[in-house]
Amino acid sequence: MIRSAVRPTGVERTFAPDELIVSKTDLKGRLTYANDVFLRVSAFDEDEVIGKPHNIIRHPAMPRCIFALLWETLEAGDEMFAYVVNLAADGAHYWVLAHVTPSLDERGTLVGYHSNRRVPDRAAVATIEQLYRRLVDIEKRHGSPKEAIAASSAQLTADLAARGQSYDEFVWSLAGAAA
Ligand SMILES: Cc1cc2nc3c(=O)[nH]c(=O)nc-3n(C[C@H](O)[C@H](O)[C@H](O)COP(=O)(O)O)c2cc1C
Repeated sequence: MIRSAVRPTGVERTFAPDELIVSKTDLKGRLTYANDVFLRVSAFDEDEVIGKPHNIIRHPAMPRCIFALLWETLEAGDEMFAYVVNLAADGAHYWVLAHVTPSLDERGTLVGYHSNRRVPDRAAVATIEQLYRRLVDIEKRHGSPKEAIAASSAQLTADLAARGQSYDEFVWSLAGAAA
């Protein structure tokens, strides 16, 4: 099915605490696998997502600088945990705590990437929403994506420095606080 651009409806969708939303991509971030939970929560059919870039579920409330950090981290061979709000095909949104890792073959060669996502706790989402709103506001003041990412990344770095935390430590401090 061909769909036109999805408009966010403001309706939030959740999933069960024991469920995992899983997807795998090639080296360019094109989907090679999506599990049943991914398809149910994102409201896409499998043939609509396989081979598509992962930004098919990108929500406009996500700061560009978080994805820039994600790709920088993955390309350095590291894993990353991140709070992400995604946009489903029907316009609903859903928050996840994603664990994204490089996938290596048996020889240790990088062949793609893998993401496992769990439902995040509400207190963490409330804090992250505020931070992401500020970062997106900064990005909107810049014409080019490159300038937008530079400005919001600088703000993120300053915020984290003020807390004395890396993004990873920040993610876990939020998850821990409400656990
Ligand atoms: C394994 C993996 C999983 C990803 N999962 C998501 C996701 O759930 N939502 C999302 O918006 N982007 C995800 N991305 C990042 C996208 O590739 C992309 O960088 C992001 O959507 C921003 O797209 P844009 O730069 O075209 O705006 C993922 C990337 C990888 C490698």
